[in-house]
Amino acid sequence: MIQNLDERIWSVFEQENIVGNDLVDALNHGMLVSNLAGLLAAEHGCNEEFCTEIMRAGLVHDIGKLQLGRFLYGRNDGGLEIEELKYVRMHPTLGHERLVRIGGFSDLVLEAVYHHHENFDGTGYPRNLRGEKIPLAARILRICDVYAAMISERPYRAAFDSDAAVEMMIDEVHHFDMKMFLAFLKIVHSEQIEEIWQFAECANKKIRDRGNNKEDYDVQLNSKQLAAQIAQLRQQSQNDRSKQKSEPLMAILECV
Ligand SMILES: [Fe+2]
Repeated sequence: MIQNLDERIWSVFEQENIVGNDLVDALNHGMLVSNLAGLLAAEHGCNEEFCTEIMRAGLVHDIGKLQLGRFLYGRNDGGLEIEELKYVRMHPTLGHERLVRIGGFSDLVLEAVYHHHENFDGTGYPRNLRGEKIPLAARILRICDVYAAMISERPYRAAFDSDAAVEMMIDEVHHFDMKMFLAFLKIVHSEQIEEIWQFAECANKKIRDRGNNKEDYDVQLNSKQLAAQIAQLRQQSQNDRSKQKSEPLMAILECV
Protein backbone atom coordinates (compact mmCIF):
# COMPACT_ATOMS: atom_id res chain seq x y z
CA MET A 1 0.00 0.00 0.00
CA ILE A 2 1.63 3.20 -1.13
CA GLN A 3 0.91 6.35 0.81
CA ASN A 4 3.54 8.41 -0.88
CA LEU A 5 1.84 11.79 -1.04
CA ASP A 6 3.74 14.74 -2.38
CA GLU A 7 3.61 18.28 -1.02
CA ARG A 8 1.20 19.65 -3.59
CA ILE A 9 -1.32 16.93 -2.85
CA TRP A 10 -1.14 17.76 0.83
CA SER A 11 -1.68 21.43 0.15
CA VAL A 12 -4.94 20.56 -1.64
CA PHE A 13 -6.29 18.95 1.50
CA GLU A 14 -4.92 21.65 3.77
CA GLN A 15 -6.93 24.28 1.95
CA GLU A 16 -10.23 22.60 2.75
CA ASN A 17 -11.95 23.62 5.94
CA ILE A 18 -13.44 20.34 7.00
CA VAL A 19 -14.35 18.32 10.04
CA GLY A 20 -11.53 16.16 11.41
CA ASN A 21 -13.06 12.75 10.75
CA ASP A 22 -14.12 13.86 7.29
CA LEU A 23 -10.52 14.65 6.44
CA VAL A 24 -9.44 11.19 7.55
CA ASP A 25 -12.30 9.50 5.67
CA ALA A 26 -11.59 11.52 2.52
CA LEU A 27 -7.90 10.64 2.67
CA ASN A 28 -8.59 6.97 3.32
CA HIS A 29 -11.00 6.75 0.38
CA GLY A 30 -8.55 8.69 -1.79
CA MET A 31 -5.71 6.36 -0.88
CA LEU A 32 -7.79 3.27 -1.63
CA VAL A 33 -8.84 4.59 -5.05
CA SER A 34 -5.32 5.80 -5.75
CA ASN A 35 -3.73 2.41 -5.08
CA LEU A 36 -6.40 0.44 -6.91
CA ALA A 37 -6.10 2.78 -9.92
CA GLY A 38 -2.31 2.40 -9.94
CA LEU A 39 -2.65 -1.39 -10.01
CA LEU A 40 -5.33 -1.34 -12.71
CA ALA A 41 -3.39 1.06 -14.93
CA ALA A 42 -0.28 -1.11 -14.59
CA GLU A 43 -2.32 -4.25 -15.34
CA HIS A 44 -3.59 -2.54 -18.48
CA GLY A 45 -0.01 -1.85 -19.54
CA CYS A 46 0.03 1.91 -18.98
CA ASN A 47 3.48 3.45 -18.63
CA GLU A 48 4.98 4.56 -15.34
CA GLU A 49 4.12 8.21 -15.85
CA PHE A 50 0.47 7.38 -16.48
CA CYS A 51 0.39 5.15 -13.38
CA THR A 52 1.88 7.90 -11.24
CA GLU A 53 -0.53 10.51 -12.52
CA ILE A 54 -3.60 8.34 -12.13
CA MET A 55 -2.58 7.66 -8.54
CA ARG A 56 -2.48 11.39 -7.94
CA ALA A 57 -5.91 11.71 -9.56
CA GLY A 58 -7.23 8.89 -7.38
CA LEU A 59 -6.16 10.68 -4.26
CA VAL A 60 -7.87 13.97 -5.09
CA HIS A 61 -10.77 12.75 -7.24
CA ASP A 62 -13.42 13.67 -4.65
CA ILE A 63 -11.86 16.94 -3.54
CA GLY A 64 -15.00 18.73 -4.78
CA LYS A 65 -17.03 16.88 -2.15
CA LEU A 66 -15.05 18.48 0.62
CA GLN A 67 -16.44 21.82 -0.48
CA LEU A 68 -19.90 20.42 0.11
CA GLY A 69 -18.59 19.69 3.62
CA ARG A 70 -20.92 18.53 6.32
CA PHE A 71 -23.73 18.32 3.85
CA LEU A 72 -22.25 15.02 2.67
CA TYR A 73 -19.90 13.71 5.32
CA GLY A 74 -20.80 12.20 8.65
CA ARG A 75 -24.32 11.32 7.54
CA ASN A 76 -26.10 8.47 9.25
CA ASP A 77 -28.55 7.79 6.45
CA GLY A 78 -27.84 6.52 2.98
CA GLY A 79 -30.58 8.17 0.97
CA LEU A 80 -30.22 11.47 -0.80
CA GLU A 81 -33.11 13.73 -1.73
CA ILE A 82 -33.34 14.88 -5.35
CA GLU A 83 -32.29 18.39 -4.37
CA GLU A 84 -29.28 17.03 -2.49
CA LEU A 85 -28.38 14.82 -5.41
CA LYS A 86 -28.16 17.89 -7.59
CA TYR A 87 -25.46 19.29 -5.31
CA VAL A 88 -23.63 15.97 -5.06
CA ARG A 89 -23.46 15.85 -8.83
CA MET A 90 -21.61 19.13 -8.84
CA HIS A 91 -18.59 17.67 -7.05
CA PRO A 92 -16.57 16.58 -10.13
CA THR A 93 -16.92 20.09 -11.57
CA LEU A 94 -16.11 21.73 -8.24
CA GLY A 95 -13.09 19.49 -7.80
CA HIS A 96 -11.84 20.18 -11.30
CA GLU A 97 -12.23 23.95 -10.78
CA ARG A 98 -10.41 23.75 -7.47
CA LEU A 99 -7.43 21.91 -8.95
CA VAL A 100 -7.25 24.29 -11.92
CA ARG A 101 -7.19 27.21 -9.47
CA ILE A 102 -4.42 25.61 -7.41
CA GLY A 103 -2.51 24.90 -10.61
CA GLY A 104 0.28 22.51 -11.51
CA PHE A 105 -1.84 19.41 -12.16
CA SER A 106 -1.50 17.51 -15.42
CA ASP A 107 -4.32 17.28 -17.96
CA LEU A 108 -4.63 13.61 -17.08
CA VAL A 109 -5.38 14.44 -13.44
CA LEU A 110 -7.77 17.27 -14.31
CA GLU A 111 -9.71 15.22 -16.85
CA ALA A 112 -9.87 12.16 -14.62
CA VAL A 113 -11.28 14.22 -11.74
CA TYR A 114 -13.80 15.97 -13.98
CA HIS A 115 -15.08 12.75 -15.60
CA HIS A 116 -14.79 10.23 -12.77
CA HIS A 117 -18.59 9.80 -12.57
CA GLU A 118 -19.16 9.25 -16.28
CA ASN A 119 -20.62 5.84 -17.07
CA PHE A 120 -19.56 3.81 -20.08
CA ASP A 121 -23.19 3.62 -21.26
CA GLY A 122 -23.55 7.40 -21.24
CA THR A 123 -25.69 7.64 -18.08
CA GLY A 124 -23.09 9.34 -15.90
CA TYR A 125 -22.23 12.96 -15.25
CA PRO A 126 -21.26 15.78 -15.65
CA ARG A 127 -21.18 15.45 -19.48
CA ASN A 128 -23.00 12.16 -20.17
CA LEU A 129 -19.98 11.01 -22.15
CA ARG A 130 -20.19 7.52 -23.57
CA GLY A 131 -17.65 4.75 -24.26
CA GLU A 132 -14.16 5.69 -25.24
CA LYS A 133 -15.06 9.37 -25.35
CA ILE A 134 -14.55 9.14 -21.60
CA PRO A 135 -10.82 9.61 -20.89
CA LEU A 136 -9.10 6.32 -20.05
CA ALA A 137 -8.00 7.57 -16.64
CA ALA A 138 -11.61 8.42 -15.74
CA ARG A 139 -12.79 4.96 -16.86
CA ILE A 140 -10.18 3.42 -14.58
CA LEU A 141 -11.12 5.66 -11.65
CA ARG A 142 -14.84 4.87 -12.08
CA ILE A 143 -14.25 1.17 -11.44
CA CYS A 144 -11.82 1.71 -8.57
CA ASP A 145 -14.00 4.36 -6.94
CA VAL A 146 -17.08 2.13 -6.88
CA TYR A 147 -15.16 -0.89 -5.59
CA ALA A 148 -13.41 1.18 -2.90
CA ALA A 149 -16.73 2.61 -1.76
CA MET A 150 -18.35 -0.83 -1.58
CA ILE A 151 -15.63 -2.39 0.56
CA SER A 152 -15.70 0.60 2.92
CA GLU A 153 -17.83 1.03 6.01
CA ARG A 154 -20.26 3.93 5.94
CA PRO A 155 -22.09 5.45 8.90
CA TYR A 156 -25.36 4.14 7.39
CA ARG A 157 -24.25 0.68 6.19
CA ALA A 158 -21.64 -2.02 6.75
CA ALA A 159 -18.85 -2.65 4.26
CA PHE A 160 -19.42 -5.34 1.65
CA ASP A 161 -16.85 -8.06 1.26
CA SER A 162 -14.91 -8.14 -1.98
CA ASP A 163 -16.96 -10.95 -3.59
CA ALA A 164 -20.25 -9.19 -2.84
CA ALA A 165 -18.85 -5.91 -4.17
CA VAL A 166 -17.74 -7.56 -7.41
CA GLU A 167 -21.12 -9.29 -7.83
CA MET A 168 -22.95 -6.00 -7.43
CA MET A 169 -20.61 -4.37 -9.90
CA ILE A 170 -21.26 -7.17 -12.41
CA ASP A 171 -24.98 -6.35 -12.14
CA GLU A 172 -24.13 -2.78 -13.11
CA VAL A 173 -21.38 -3.66 -15.56
CA HIS A 174 -22.88 -1.46 -18.31
CA HIS A 175 -21.48 1.45 -16.28
CA PHE A 176 -17.93 0.28 -16.81
CA ASP A 177 -15.46 -0.19 -19.62
CA MET A 178 -15.62 -3.98 -20.00
CA LYS A 179 -11.97 -4.32 -21.00
CA MET A 180 -10.92 -2.44 -17.88
CA PHE A 181 -13.39 -4.33 -15.74
CA LEU A 182 -11.94 -7.68 -16.84
CA ALA A 183 -8.45 -6.38 -16.00
CA PHE A 184 -9.81 -5.26 -12.64
CA LEU A 185 -11.12 -8.79 -11.92
CA LYS A 186 -7.56 -10.06 -12.36
CA ILE A 187 -6.35 -7.59 -9.75
CA VAL A 188 -9.09 -8.56 -7.33
CA HIS A 189 -7.81 -12.12 -7.54
CA SER A 190 -4.14 -11.20 -7.24
CA GLU A 191 -1.93 -11.12 -4.17
CA GLN A 192 -1.28 -7.43 -4.60
CA ILE A 193 -4.77 -6.52 -3.50
CA GLU A 194 -4.36 -8.01 -0.03
CA GLU A 195 -2.51 -4.99 1.27
CA ILE A 196 -5.34 -2.80 0.03
CA TRP A 197 -7.91 -4.96 1.83
CA GLN A 198 -5.87 -4.64 5.02
CA PHE A 199 -5.81 -0.89 4.68
CA ALA A 200 -9.58 -0.83 4.06
CA GLU A 201 -10.21 -3.08 7.06
CA CYS A 202 -8.15 -0.82 9.26
CA ALA A 203 -10.13 2.25 8.11
CA ASN A 204 -13.40 0.33 8.53
CA LYS A 205 -12.51 -0.60 12.08
CA LYS A 206 -11.91 3.03 12.94
CA ILE A 207 -15.31 3.98 11.54
CA ARG A 208 -17.01 1.18 13.51
CA ASP A 209 -15.24 2.28 16.69
CA ARG A 210 -16.30 5.82 16.00
CA GLY A 211 -19.89 4.62 15.75
CA ASN A 212 -19.83 4.11 19.51
CA ASN A 213 -18.72 7.67 19.96
CA LYS A 214 -20.83 9.65 17.52
CA GLU A 215 -20.09 13.03 18.99
CA ASP A 216 -16.79 12.89 17.06
CA TYR A 217 -18.79 13.94 14.02
CA ASP A 218 -19.75 17.13 15.78
CA VAL A 219 -16.23 18.18 16.60
CA GLN A 220 -15.17 20.96 14.27
CA LEU A 221 -11.42 21.16 14.52
CA ASN A 222 -9.93 24.60 14.79
CA SER A 223 -7.18 25.44 12.34
CA LYS A 224 -4.43 24.62 14.84
CA GLN A 225 -5.85 21.15 15.51
CA LEU A 226 -6.35 20.55 11.82
CA ALA A 227 -2.75 21.56 11.08
CA ALA A 228 -1.57 19.15 13.80
CA GLN A 229 -3.64 16.34 12.32
CA ILE A 230 -2.30 16.96 8.83
CA ALA A 231 1.25 17.13 10.17
CA GLN A 232 0.76 13.74 11.78
CA LEU A 233 -0.59 12.20 8.57
CA ARG A 234 2.19 13.82 6.59
CA GLN A 235 4.79 12.37 8.92
CA GLN A 236 3.21 8.94 8.52
CA SER A 237 3.38 9.34 4.76
CA GLN A 238 7.04 10.32 4.87
CA ASN A 239 7.82 7.25 6.93
CA ASP A 240 6.04 5.08 4.37
CA ARG A 241 7.89 6.83 1.57
CA SER A 242 11.28 6.12 3.06
CA LYS A 243 10.31 2.46 3.35
CA GLN A 244 9.30 2.28 -0.30
CA LYS A 245 11.81 4.53 -2.01
CA SER A 246 11.44 3.52 -5.62
CA GLU A 247 7.64 3.12 -5.70
CA PRO A 248 5.58 5.65 -7.70
CA LEU A 249 3.10 7.92 -5.95
CA MET A 250 0.71 6.31 -5.07
CA ALA A 251 -26.13 6.11 -3.81
CA ILE A 252 -24.03 3.39 -3.07
CA LEU A 253 -22.90 4.52 -6.46
CA GLU A 254 -24.05 8.11 -6.06
CA CYS A 255 -22.90 8.78 -2.56
CA VAL A 256 -19.49 7.23 -2.74
FE1 LIG B 1 -16.92 11.18 -6.72
